[in-house]
Amino acid sequence: MNRGRTILEPNPELAMKSYSSLIDLIRARRSTRRFQNRPVPRELLVRCVEAARLAPSAENSQPWRFIIVDDADLLQELRKNAFSGFFRPTRWASAAPVLVVLCARPDIVAGRLARGVTGTHFSHIDLGIAGTHFCLQAQELGLGTCWIGWFDKKRVRRTLKIGRDRHPVILFAVGYSAESASRPQKRKNLDEICAFNRGEKSPLSPAG
Ligand SMILES: Cc1cc2nc3c(=O)[nH]c(=O)nc-3n(C[C@H](O)[C@H](O)[C@H](O)COP(=O)(O)O)c2cc1C
Repeated sequence: MNRGRTILEPNPELAMKSYSSLIDLIRARRSTRRFQNRPVPRELLVRCVEAARLAPSAENSQPWRFIIVDDADLLQELRKNAFSGFFRPTRWASAAPVLVVLCARPDIVAGRLARGVTGTHFSHIDLGIAGTHFCLQAQELGLGTCWIGWFDKKRVRRTLKIGRDRHPVILFAVGYSAESASRPQKRKNLDEICAFNRGEKSPLSPAG
């Protein structure tokens, strides 16, 4: 129940999963590609966007815009347009009760100028951080998510009437997971991805 709060205010009564540390939550997260036919309360979605809102960004430009699609008719149209033709491999996402479109609205300074000098797409990094906040918050709220890069951006833009100044970069499928067992997290070993004090591969030891 809302008890006079607006949906944009945090609700301390939200049901959360309890993790004893951040690393436990991170270890528990998996991409979810099968969903229960169960609606997701908007308050939970807003909480996820609130976590994303607090993400750091280059020049604090906050170039992200979240479009949450939970209306049944619009969802149907979006699914049809986003996951057809070349993008059919992503049709599994049609089972998600919510699709979230993460758009970049690049800032002139942090975007074009910094990219020209450094060669780095800061807005995409910023969106990656905000998206990670979104998904980890969802995990704590008991929601499954999956990042989706393989979708028809032009048709998504047209369906949702997204202006020319915004670029749909990622979709999130969001909902209560219907996946039965947790898959192992296949990841490279620490010593393959990290070394102290040198550029080339070296044994990972705090002593160096
Ligand atoms: C930027 C990005 C784009 C992704 N795009 C897709 C996608 O289009 N389709 C899909 O099924 N999974 C997609 N994924 C999910 C990855 O396949 C998944 O995160 C990876 O295999 C690791 O599995 P896990 O998330 O369960 O740990 C994407 C993930 C990221 C971070």
